[in-house]
Amino acid sequence: MEPRPQAGGHEGILIFRRDKVLKRALPCELNFYTNLFNPNNQIPILLEFQKFVPKFYGSQLIDGSNYIVLENLLWEYENPSIMDCKIGRVTWTRDHSPPRCVTQQLRASKTTTSSLGFRITGLLIKDREGHVTDSIRKKQVFDITPDNILDYFARLVIRDDVFQEEVVDQFIMETQEILDWFRKQRVSTFFTCSVLYVNGFNKAQTKFIDFSYVYESDGQRDTNMIEGLESLINTWEKLKMKYAKSYYL
Ligand SMILES: Nc1ncnc2c1ncn2[C@@H]1O[C@H](COP(=O)(O)OP(=O)(O)OP(=O)(O)O)[C@@H](O)[C@H]1O
Ligand SMILES: [Mg+2]
Repeated sequence: MEPRPQAGGHEGILIFRRDKVLKRALPCELNFYTNLFNPNNQIPILLEFQKFVPKFYGSQLIDGSNYIVLENLLWEYENPSIMDCKIGRVTWTRDHSPPRCVTQQLRASKTTTSSLGFRITGLLIKDREGHVTDSIRKKQVFDITPDNILDYFARLVIRDDVFQEEVVDQFIMETQEILDWFRKQRVSTFFTCSVLYVNGFNKAQTKFIDFSYVYESDGQRDTNMIEGLESLINTWEKLKMKYAKSYYL
């Protein structure tokens, strides 16, 4: 059986079909993608955002549930390793019930969400043959602290004992582009979104995913996302400082 190709998130809500992924989605996520890719509603700042997210191919009703049809971000990536980083110190919203807010706040305090403004929610590492050699999920994410987080980042980009500096540079550059967009946009406020890093043996990419909680902005900068993304870039930079040869030249 094909090993689970999912880094984070809920089990059983994704269906992988070749170059597409179907995700059982909340109305908010369906609305978000529908607006973002609506050809009649092209606000320039939103148009710019399209390139950071999976392509959207509409929705499907399956067994009474709404699924959004997205580009499979792993398609054509050879034996990809993946890391899902959930962005933001605040991961609860007015649409979370009071008990879920408490759960989220507890989770934030026990993970790097509270200290670094993001947390790894899933990490899946594959070798050249496609065997899963490492997988961090669920309870294991609580073991990740600001002191050891570089070890987890390293697993994604150290292959056969070689530090893949170009891949890290690409991840930093692509995360920076997302951050630059957030620094100028005032249209939306995002919660519980993730940066998904994909490192295949042939190529790598960075995407922004998971839009179950996106709200119209009241004209303020989305500091929750901005600070989380800054901290994420900072963590990659620290990893480079630790492993990249160019730092010792
Ligand atoms: N378009 C995609 N292509 C490939 N893999 C994807 C795609 N979207 C999501 N995934 C995988 O599925 C995982 C969960 O996705 P996502 O975060 O959207 O779901 P979720 O269950 O809503 O998450 P959460 O529990 O964080 O709310 C991601 O970590 C990623 O590994
Ligand atoms: Mg998620």
